[in-house]
Amino acid sequence: MTAPILPAQRPLTLGRHEVWPPVVLAPMAGITNVGFRRLCREQGGGIYVCEMITTVALVERNPKTLRMIAFGDDEQPRSLQLYGTDPEITAAAVRIVVEKNLADHIDLNFGCPVPKVTRRGGGSALPWRRRLFARLVKAAVDAAAPAGVPVTVKMRKGIDDDHLTYVEAGLAAQDAGVVAVALHGRTAAQRYSGTADWDAIATLKQALDVPVLGNGDVWEADDALRMVDHTRVDGVVIGRGCLGRPWLFADLEAAFDGRPERRLPALGEVAATMRRHAELLVDQFVAGARNPARGERDGCTDFRKHVAWYLKGFPVGSELRRSLAMIDSLAQLDDLLGKLDPAEPFPVATLGQPRGRTNSPGKVYLPEGWLASRDDDTVPEGAELADSGG
Ligand SMILES: Cc1cc2nc3c(=O)[nH]c(=O)nc-3n(C[C@H](O)[C@H](O)[C@H](O)COP(=O)(O)O)c2cc1C
Repeated sequence: MTAPILPAQRPLTLGRHEVWPPVVLAPMAGITNVGFRRLCREQGGGIYVCEMITTVALVERNPKTLRMIAFGDDEQPRSLQLYGTDPEITAAAVRIVVEKNLADHIDLNFGCPVPKVTRRGGGSALPWRRRLFARLVKAAVDAAAPAGVPVTVKMRKGIDDDHLTYVEAGLAAQDAGVVAVALHGRTAAQRYSGTADWDAIATLKQALDVPVLGNGDVWEADDALRMVDHTRVDGVVIGRGCLGRPWLFADLEAAFDGRPERRLPALGEVAATMRRHAELLVDQFVAGARNPARGERDGCTDFRKHVAWYLKGFPVGSELRRSLAMIDSLAQLDDLLGKLDPAEPFPVATLGQPRGRTNSPGKVYLPEGWLASRDDDTVPEGAELADSGG
């Protein structure tokens, strides 16, 4: 037996917000909508970040984007992630957020590795252009400051192992006035492959005065304690580990409170959680729909992507899995869930295993001449995404 690891004892301070346990639900496009966040919040404390919102779409008052900025009545603090590449557009978007009182915390996304974004200099490519990065972060911080809304950044280690930016970018963000910096311990070139580099997270923690949040490969609550022990971070950011396992937030709260209990729900309890998740998505889509009659179908369609994550490792036949992943209504879901064996024990072999995206490393596509011009702070053309949450 190894000696028990001491959990972080202090709440996470994000400007005026104190968060206990020091746990953050990572923003995940297409996943962390208001329904999913409520499901997770019902399990435990923390801060739960909404899906990424693009600054252009917000400034243009895109109706789909405006609908995506939805929070529960009891959601505190309301945490919103913005994606932008242009300091002026970002400042305009932040002004809308504060003037319309849309959120209590703003996170800026500098971690997106997808080619359509980096090819134009956005997401994880942007911190390389250090002056542009600093200008953009400062624009957001300055626009949020009058309302006392704290701003954080979330980034990767850099473009690849030869072009690391995280320490310099962390210091620049701190100088610009962010209240915390989150680091996903991978480069853009790694995408979701390999393992997250917790040593890099420890290095950033040593370099900064503001709180540092560690992100990458926390699959179990005890991984979060190990990350804190290894890196001394002020909080942990949980992404893929909670896919199909919202009760991970109950385990995280227990772990940070120093309690030993960890949930191993049998299939009947998992089915009840699936039902709750689908119901919350239906509520969300009914509330946001122009045509409420379509809300149930849209909510059920959104739920389909979660089915395989919930059933991972359980002995459930492929035909039933397929049918569950094609539901259109809650009645259909109930009928299919009724066919599961509620006594089937939790598949412990899946514990600690990666889930969700685990793709291979890939070339990082960048605009022409990007690497050779670190101090150029021209706003990259066409790098703003028109669509939120993509
Ligand atoms: C489906 C999916 C969507 C994601 N969308 C976003 C996003 O919109 N903004 C962001 O900063 N990171 C996004 N990420 C990255 C996660 O926030 C997180 O940094 C990453 O998954 C690593 O953490 P993990 O190992 O706990 O999953 C996404 C990840 C996944 C799997």
